[in-house]
Amino acid sequence: MSRLQLGVNIDHVATLRQARFRGLSHLPAVEPDLLQAARDAIAGGADQITIHLREDRRHIQDADVYLVRENIASRINLEMGLTPEIIAIALDVRPDVVCLVPEHRQEVTTEGGLDVAGREALVTATTQQCQEAGIKVSLFIDAEASQIAAAARTGAEMVELHTGAFANAHGPARTLETEKLIAGAIMAHEAGLIVNAGHGITTHNIGELFAMPHLHELNIGHHLICRALRIGLTPAVAEMRALMDHYPCPPRASTGAPSPA
Ligand code: PXP
Repeated sequence: MSRLQLGVNIDHVATLRQARFRGLSHLPAVEPDLLQAARDAIAGGADQITIHLREDRRHIQDADVYLVRENIASRINLEMGLTPEIIAIALDVRPDVVCLVPEHRQEVTTEGGLDVAGREALVTATTQQCQEAGIKVSLFIDAEASQIAAAARTGAEMVELHTGAFANAHGPARTLETEKLIAGAIMAHEAGLIVNAGHGITTHNIGELFAMPHLHELNIGHHLICRALRIGLTPAVAEMRALMDHYPCPPRASTGAPSPA
């Protein structure tokens, strides 16, 4: 049995570092240490380290991407917008996976999924470029039929279904969002896509997400970093990992980097 994979997003560690040391990366006292955070996450049971190189460089810096790639043996997932500059960096660094996300400078965090249906030609071309460089491609999308169908046409191996609306909903709206995610997971799986999910996942809501079939991987950041402030990152990740081990995974042929079913 392959376990549900856990990608730990460590962007907020860089957010904290930048709050004090932006432009001062040469100083010996720079903290917190991003690589140490990655290692702590792996010690807690992370299968993958996820980082987002944003166009505005608000947290992860170019040098971080290279540093993480060169020093961390686990799977690296680079989240990125569809900008030529960032795509060029990804093609140079060659993470195991890129997750294509929408990006607007004014947003606080990634809001809404990538409009694959509306930007299909560009997403398809970027997907091909990355795949030719040996990088697997995931598309961060809302669980909508039109987006899933378009994602399948691009040739990307994976989709990451956006769980933000689910996480923020209460009562009947929460039930509706859960149903959308279930339907989206089924549709994506039937279209031959590997199904991941992420955004706003916590130890409190993760159990409800287990209603989604075919889940391969969850990417989790904010809650783990908040929890780490109280108990440390390794125990925070281990706590999440223990919950994730309750997800019933079907047997898989291989347990390494994901490949299309
Ligand atoms: N997946 C994607 C594509 C994201 O953009 C983010 C946020 O950076 C996450 C997962 C993690 O979300 P959160 O920090 O809310 O756990």
